[in-house]
Amino acid sequence: MTAGGRHFLDLSDAGTDAIAAMIADAIDRKAARKALPKGQPDPDAPLTGRVLASVFEKNSTRTRISFDMAMRQLGGSMLTLDSASSQLGRGESIADTARVLSRMVDAIVLRTDSHAKIEEMAHEANVPVINGLTDRSHPCQIIADLLTIIEHGKPLPGLQVAWFGDGNNVLNSVLEAAGLLKFGVRVATPAGYEPNPKIVERARKAGAEIVVTHDPTQAAKQADVLMTDTWISMGQTDAEQKRAAMTPFRVDASLLKKAKDDAIFLHCLPAHVGDEVSEEVFEGAQSVVFAQAENRIHAQKSILLWSFGLLGQDAERRTGP
Ligand code: CP
Ligand code: NVA
Repeated sequence: MTAGGRHFLDLSDAGTDAIAAMIADAIDRKAARKALPKGQPDPDAPLTGRVLASVFEKNSTRTRISFDMAMRQLGGSMLTLDSASSQLGRGESIADTARVLSRMVDAIVLRTDSHAKIEEMAHEANVPVINGLTDRSHPCQIIADLLTIIEHGKPLPGLQVAWFGDGNNVLNSVLEAAGLLKFGVRVATPAGYEPNPKIVERARKAGAEIVVTHDPTQAAKQADVLMTDTWISMGQTDAEQKRAAMTPFRVDASLLKKAKDDAIFLHCLPAHVGDEVSEEVFEGAQSVVFAQAENRIHAQKSILLWSFGLLGQDAERRTGP
């Protein structure tokens, strides 16, 4: 908590009820502005006069654009601080940057390499700090993913998600969501690329059924949702060795057939078609990846409103269609 709102570094900062409220608000706002041009504010424009600073130390298309569009649709605006062309790129500390930005803008979204850096930013800032991806987690992505799953007719309680490939930052946030919203996750990775055992254990303790296996078929069986991500995340270097280990975990048509007939395929993007997912699955009828990408805007709006303390206490909750 800051003087001016709440940090969103991980899904647990919000918790089960607030996540369900974010999803409900995103569904309502999305439906209510269907006929409006994309850059026109929602009629209530709840963030009028507020400015978000986005600080990106890694590349981004979706996260950057969706936060910018979310701020416009909520009546506010966003400015971007590229680390390379700012004083961050010349060694100014995260702590000083946080204290300066707190006096100039109303909230900060940071994409960075180390989770410790965003914790330091949050510690020093007295405006809300939002995690736009770190090496540990990608919570904003998962709000959009949950919204997409619900929109495709699948309630979260009792849902069976299957994850294939790398035990990475995006998976960590899927696991955290599973603990908070009580759905099952079966994770299939090569040996040596399993998810962080502490994050798996926390999700299990919270009541989620989590299976970690090296058998992709076991993970896919009767799943409602199949998910994967790039095998090589930004900043990783062990590409050749890792790619070879990952090949049996590609989501292809034969793996998809093991899931439920109405299963959907999600990918946070950017995708490397032919690596972690076959072209047939990526372009196929069960792939919802572009609806998922669009939902980044609607999810960011809910996250921003929650961070500013403007997502009502008595807001509706949604964990199902
Ligand atoms: N999914 C996602 O975070 O995309 P970007 O890297 O383009 O922001
Ligand atoms: N795991 C990927 C996600 C990109 C949105 C990465 O960290 O590069």
